[in-house]
Amino acid sequence: MATETSLSDVFPLGSRLDERGRLEIGGCDTIELAKEFGTPAYVVAEDDLRARARAFTAAGRNEGHEDFHVVFASKAFPCTAVLALFAQEGLWCDVASGGELHLALNAGFAPERLVLHGNAKSEAELRMALERGVGLIVVDNFDEIERLGRLMAAGGRAGAGEQEVLVRVTPDVRGETHEKISTGQADSKFGFSVAQAGEAFARVQSADGLSLQGVHAHIGSQLLGLDPFRVEIAELAKLGGFPVWDLGGGLGVRYTADQPPAPAIEDYVGALVQAAHAHAGGAQRRLLIEPGRALSANAGVTLYTVQSVKQNVSRWVAVDGGMSDNLRPMLYGAVYEAHVADRFDGTTHCRLAGKHCESGDVIVGETLLDDPRPGDVIVTPATGAYGFAMANNYNGVPRPPVIFCRDGDARVVVRRESFDDLTARDVS
Ligand code: LLP
Repeated sequence: MATETSLSDVFPLGSRLDERGRLEIGGCDTIELAKEFGTPAYVVAEDDLRARARAFTAAGRNEGHEDFHVVFASKAFPCTAVLALFAQEGLWCDVASGGELHLALNAGFAPERLVLHGNAKSEAELRMALERGVGLIVVDNFDEIERLGRLMAAGGRAGAGEQEVLVRVTPDVRGETHEKISTGQADSKFGFSVAQAGEAFARVQSADGLSLQGVHAHIGSQLLGLDPFRVEIAELAKLGGFPVWDLGGGLGVRYTADQPPAPAIEDYVGALVQAAHAHAGGAQRRLLIEPGRALSANAGVTLYTVQSVKQNVSRWVAVDGGMSDNLRPMLYGAVYEAHVADRFDGTTHCRLAGKHCESGDVIVGETLLDDPRPGDVIVTPATGAYGFAMANNYNGVPRPPVIFCRDGDARVVVRRESFDDLTARDVS
């Protein structure tokens, strides 16, 4: 009989296998969760999200930098309950569209704690940001500076003063990550090149109603080395003595126990703050960081139910979700681990297939499962970032619910989509 087995840090904090070998998340038995709420389901340990938010915030203070703010990149998990939790924890929020702005305000973020991004912000989105009093707008291109100046000249913030602005710069720093989520290279679609930055500053300063506060850079996502961040900061430091440096997000996480651990939150924040302090005036700046994945990925798991098992060349275990709830394997070749939720120690080589009509819809290309059978609950950990966010209705599959678990209590914070939802937007 299995005694309590400790789980790797790929799983949410506080997860464990109980005396029967069943996975518990936030004190809730995952087999019971699957019965009660159905599958697929995103299951999130609420305490894990809080602990990571606190670790980020405390790390800045521990480095002796008071004016340090953690800005949740809402794109990682744009769900009201998650946003409300982070708002409660005192974080700020990064939004990259009118829709994310709407979600963040609706979840209770004070508008002055919002940072608006985007390389193609529409006039409507900019107007919304001005009207709602967004704290910082990160300008990405000359067209936007002109547009924003025009809106301000036309009465932009309704008498509420100047709009504070950061200029996004692409510092030509490349971290090691998937090409699709690398943004710091010179030929990125985001931001101004270092050579253009001076002109961007001048245009912001001469535009109506804009107050240039500083610079922003985001060099990429799922970065597991800290040196590129140090180089980024050195590049920003060359651009002048602005009061605000927004260093973007990008800290990577561990997706499988086979991978080396990701840098600890404390080490990452320590490296950034120390690098900032190494430059003249660095200790006086307001520092912002924008973690997304590192706040939420390991807080969540996905539960599926096995529908069929077949053996041809491979042993194919097909479940009731796939690329509609987790696009990351298909988009980035992302590797996850999988387990039968009540029989963890698997020895059968399997491929975990999704239910969608594409050969590429494989959730885990190669995994060891304990003799999986139809009806078994399968768990894939580390799905708390960019899973819910990029979910879709391919093949008419309704999107899964989000279940928050804490101290043995489970509550639905986003309900499962229904078939009626699939036709709700039809007008004829
Ligand atoms: N700040 C900015 C301006 C960003 O563009 C991003 C992510 C972040 C912060 C947060 O990055 P993080 O800390 O989560 O790495 N869908 C992809 C990730 C795309 C990230 C895009 N921007 C994935 O599933 O890996």
